[in-house]
Amino acid sequence: MAAHAVEIRDLHKSFGPLEVLKGIDFTVEEGQVVCVIGPSGSGKSTLLRCVNLLEQPTRGKVTVGGVEITDPDVDIDAARRRLGMVFQSFNLFPHMSVLQNVMIAQRRVLRRGREEAERVARANLDKVGVGAKCDSYPPQLSGGQQQRVAIARALAMDPSLMLFDEPTSALDPELVGDVLSVMRDLARDGMTMLVVTHEMSFAREVADRVVFMDGGVIVEEGPPDQVIGDPQHARTRTFLKRVLDPTNAGDASAAGDEGTGEIPAV
Ligand SMILES: Nc1ncnc2c1ncn2[C@@H]1O[C@H](COP(=O)(O)OP(=O)(O)O)[C@@H](O)[C@H]1O
Ligand SMILES: [Mg+2]
Repeated sequence: MAAHAVEIRDLHKSFGPLEVLKGIDFTVEEGQVVCVIGPSGSGKSTLLRCVNLLEQPTRGKVTVGGVEITDPDVDIDAARRRLGMVFQSFNLFPHMSVLQNVMIAQRRVLRRGREEAERVARANLDKVGVGAKCDSYPPQLSGGQQQRVAIARALAMDPSLMLFDEPTSALDPELVGDVLSVMRDLARDGMTMLVVTHEMSFAREVADRVVFMDGGVIVEEGPPDQVIGDPQHARTRTFLKRVLDPTNAGDASAAGDEGTGEIPAV
């Protein structure tokens, strides 16, 4: 059997006395999109950061593309090269043009020549719909355009897995759709994606599986119609009510374990 694209086994992460991940287990198959949802502070970012070793797990095993990245002897740089990461903040270099931003890691990390790096950069900028902005500088672009440049920058490295950490959370509402549509296209093209998001309609439409985390554990996971449409656990219902109907957040938390399970339409 082919290796899982991502395999996480008994993953624990503590910061000093604070145990943030308390034993996480799940897998992502090649070409699948898995959306991770859950309240703020539940450990979602820490989980993604353990997958690309921006954080060293305290215990457990993470395998990406058949390579165990938690093996102390692994070539971290080689393993990380195969992962694209997109954050809430775009982290573009403001003093470099869009084209240069998408070329620099290709040149420095993959050692591509200038011509090839430029060709790959332009192709990926076209793909995410900002090909006309090659000579602009990030501060001249909208947040949605900057995030699409950041996605192009990640794609230019030919990743086998893309990690997204709330990629639309910092955007004005009218710019969210453009970024989600780029992500939808990527999913359709077969990219393996692990996406932390609060965009429930995106998760419902695009995810193969949804993982709901709370307090450093996975409370439930399954197909989106199940986890978002018909959640089995009170914690999931309470969270979904808060996200889908923020004006009634007080009600939702009060409902606690007695939650009715009724979820507003997404
Ligand atoms: N580098 C760190 N040092 C100490 N505590 C951290 C660090 N990173 C995250 N935490 C804590 O871990 C918990 C989970 O954080 P995080 O993974 O960012 O949650 P989420 O992304 O779900 O909001 C929070 O209580 C946060 O304060
Ligand atoms: Mg986070």
